[in-house]
Amino acid sequence: MITLNDAQMILEKYGQQHILGHFAELSEPEKLDLLQQIERVDFSVLDNLDKEKNANSHRGQFRPLGAATIDDISRKKDLFRETGLQAIRSGKAAAVLLAGGQGTRLGFDKPKGMFNIGVNRELYIFECLINNLMKVVKEAGAWVPLYIMTSEKNHNDTTAFFEEKDYFGYDKDSVRFFIQDMAPSVGYDGKILMEDKGRISSSPNGNGGWFSSMVRAGLLSDLRDKGIEWLNVFAVDNVLQQIADPLFIGAVIESGCESGGKVVSKADPDERVGVLCLEDGMPSIVEYYEMTEEMRTLLTDEGELAYKYGVILNYLFNIHKLEQIVGEKLPVHVVEKKIPYMDESGQFISPEEPNGYKFETLVLDMVHQQSSCLPYEVDRSKEFAPVKNPTGVDSVESARELLQQNGVEL
Ligand code: UTP
Repeated sequence: MITLNDAQMILEKYGQQHILGHFAELSEPEKLDLLQQIERVDFSVLDNLDKEKNANSHRGQFRPLGAATIDDISRKKDLFRETGLQAIRSGKAAAVLLAGGQGTRLGFDKPKGMFNIGVNRELYIFECLINNLMKVVKEAGAWVPLYIMTSEKNHNDTTAFFEEKDYFGYDKDSVRFFIQDMAPSVGYDGKILMEDKGRISSSPNGNGGWFSSMVRAGLLSDLRDKGIEWLNVFAVDNVLQQIADPLFIGAVIESGCESGGKVVSKADPDERVGVLCLEDGMPSIVEYYEMTEEMRTLLTDEGELAYKYGVILNYLFNIHKLEQIVGEKLPVHVVEKKIPYMDESGQFISPEEPNGYKFETLVLDMVHQQSSCLPYEVDRSKEFAPVKNPTGVDSVESARELLQQNGVEL
């Protein structure tokens, strides 16, 4: 454990001496706890505050990338289904649910998966996802191992909820939870915020660290023992999410690609989704705000949008590749958020507007670490109903409508 002197030196280096501003007022255990937090914080993420000003300058040359379209897939569906089901039956495919986010836009104070999207009956987001996965389990006649990433902030609530609901009928032994890492949060002045006099404000460090967090949690041996080769990573908030989809798994295996990403055709050139494309010849995702007007509106010879295929946070990665790249650093994104904090007079504030930055790595940046990635087109009205906001676009309202269109009773 570091001493007070060590802590002072670290904080001075990063201009964060205010963290010890109330040290003398703390009890002995609180003092030790704060020193331990200072020891654990990765202060180097703060360097990204300056680099962020030039966030796009490190991007390479973008080129469009075509997809396995809905028509292509339909022509080969029997082959893909058989290959995918075979992978599932032989235990080579597992699913990873990314549920460590804080869901600030939804404004629900529990883990997002605990949100009840039902109207006349209870239907939780976690339950929707398990129901979707159960369809595959029934078709394959085999349980799909399910790994669930939580964060320190929502782990206990999440695990207790699954227990209380008896895993919504899923096989408890096929489910493993693991906790992701945290990163400090800062105000606009670059000073780390405090939650109280002895606690540094921190938040989950983005969904990009999922595999390294799995490794740190000791789950690599579990993956190896089970002979798992493919991991289907997906977001908690898409209630129409098709998980461990045999056709998707089969298509990626048959394509010989190292990875795959489910995509939807963009609704219009200005839709705010990241697009799967090539960057310096390698698969990559260009964010909507990184695209020039020319890229957004560029058409193919057939008159289709050239940058057409938007990602929906559903990827298939090969574990051998993941093991190779686990030590490589991902870009750190600096994201503006509302961050509760203690002000100088010691009062706790829950801001109504964004007041600072969080640091996140993103799973979409892992696509650029792959030598190949198959964009796999799906029908958005059947597979894409994200719950990000209470109302409006990508909301509880729009997701309810889409669930009903797909025959789910609410
Ligand atoms: P979002 O980008 O929507 O972030 O996450 P969020 O934190 O859930 O929501 P907002 O932006 O505060 O409203 C996309 C997916 O990545 C997971 C989320 O749980 C969701 O499934 N995620 C996000 C993590 O697992 N960890 C993180 O640190 C961030």
